[in-house]
Amino acid sequence: MSTHRNVSLTVNGTLHEKEIEVRLTLADFLRKRLGLTGTHLGCEHGVCGACTVLVDGRSARACLMLAVQADGRDVTTIEGLAPPSGEGLHPLQEAFRDHHGLQCGYCTPGILMTLVEFLRDNPAATEDGVREAISGNLCRCTGYQGIVDAALDAARRLGAADTATGGRGRDAP
Ligand code: FES
Ligand code: FES
Repeated sequence: MSTHRNVSLTVNGTLHEKEIEVRLTLADFLRKRLGLTGTHLGCEHGVCGACTVLVDGRSARACLMLAVQADGRDVTTIEGLAPPSGEGLHPLQEAFRDHHGLQCGYCTPGILMTLVEFLRDNPAATEDGVREAISGNLCRCTGYQGIVDAALDAARRLGAADTATGGRGRDAP
């Protein structure tokens, strides 16, 4: 049985065609083959949420998913969150900076990717909703209050962007 396979997937808008080991996780593919080390590894068994990325717009644990399972799919990592122009940050990143939503930052990429999905699907987010949404993401530093405040502020910023752009404010990623 072959231990390698060719895959073709889009990561942050760029198509990658690679031959990979079938046992390679998506997290290791992103970090070691593409150099996208913003996707962090904590527990490596689905508990901490540090490795969360978006696959076809839905959050996924990159440590629990094989890279071959992402064949033909569209992956977004933390590196794809800010505008591609290289200017400025995503409103969620700005809110995290303003509300001190991170300290060591190890959990932050996973929490941001989780919240991108949550705020896209729940534009009128409540504190309870935010706390439930990030309940699968462990943070050892912040006590979560800054994260929750940042998420609620980001919801307001994204809502304002929606109003200004006639609904296009939440389009990407
Ligand atoms: Fe994937 Fe912890 S590293 S959930
Ligand atoms: Fe350190 Fe969350 S900021 S683990």
